[in-house]
Amino acid sequence: MSKPPLLVTGGAGYIGSHVVLQLVEAGERVIVLDNLSTGFAEAVLGAELVAGEVGDRALVSRLLAEHGIDTVLHFAARTIVPESVADPLRYYGNNTCATRSLLECCQVAGVRHFVFSSTAAVYGIPDGPAGEDSPTAPINPYGASKLMSEWMLRDLSAASELRHVALRYFNVAGCDRQGRIGQSTAKATLLVKVAAEAAVGVRPQLAIYGTDYPTADGTGVRDYIHVEDLAAAHLDALRYLRGGGASVTLNAGYGHGYSVREVIDAMQRAAGAPLPVVEQPRRAGDPPVLIARCERIGRVLGWQPQLDDLDLICASSLAWERRLAAQRG
Ligand code: UD1
Repeated sequence: MSKPPLLVTGGAGYIGSHVVLQLVEAGERVIVLDNLSTGFAEAVLGAELVAGEVGDRALVSRLLAEHGIDTVLHFAARTIVPESVADPLRYYGNNTCATRSLLECCQVAGVRHFVFSSTAAVYGIPDGPAGEDSPTAPINPYGASKLMSEWMLRDLSAASELRHVALRYFNVAGCDRQGRIGQSTAKATLLVKVAAEAAVGVRPQLAIYGTDYPTADGTGVRDYIHVEDLAAAHLDALRYLRGGGASVTLNAGYGHGYSVREVIDAMQRAAGAPLPVVEQPRRAGDPPVLIARCERIGRVLGWQPQLDDLDLICASSLAWERRLAAQRG
């Protein structure tokens, strides 16, 4: 008997669509549930797209039952830190309450495997590189909204047959190297994307938010992970859960960081031209440094990064941005 399809929420979004592509290439059948608020139907390649809300119980229950789904990968969320500071209830509603509703549907339908998109933002301002056992102390509603979802998953896994992998993403960047999909988000805020937009002239300038952080060059430091490496970690998580692996929370990063200025330098190398940079004050909710300790994911899932290369990350983002610019004409 063939395996049931996987349900992927948020599969039309930036990260979700890259995971869907790898799942489909690995021979999985995939149903994407996405409200298309920030995602794009054309980013869903090789999978069925259902337009709808994760918090729509009737819809989710019907999908789970109709297809006999036993595995859910949950990406759908709002993800912008400053937006979460300005509109916290939206984040608790979209991320925490919707996840609770989804989990309840999963429980009723007997879903056994759940892969959850969590975030490094659960660590707040860690003392040094953040390990999975480092204290969780989010400094913005986005991180808190995701941490609350982790807690629900932890407790549900303890109380039921459900097993889960929660992946705490660090800074996801780059695009499919074959150029089939990328990051198309309107009003993007992510540094690498914004830098690529500045490089193609879509954006008149690129702001550095804060030059007075206690870092080597005064700008914020993040652990940038190529979206294709991150996507591969989800396939490893799936294999792990199907193989009977216990519920676990894992960091997904490379274990080293780059400053905003270093990212800009890399984008300038990719573009072969200087970017229009301006210095601005710090942005609300931003920690100075966020770097993963990430031995555990290798040990538990067997995940090995293949694309740990900032120049490659920037080049793939720039290539996608050029493609978008060409489409716009
Ligand atoms: C990103 C993710 C967040 C995740 C976090 C983990 C999104 C939208 N954000 O947030 O979900 O929890 O990684 O670390 O997916 N910067 C500039 N100029 C810009 C944009 C950014 O200087 O125009 C700086 C920021 O101040 C920060 C760094 O670049 O120091 C990275 O910012 P950004 O790319 O927005 O990601 P995070 O806020 O870290």
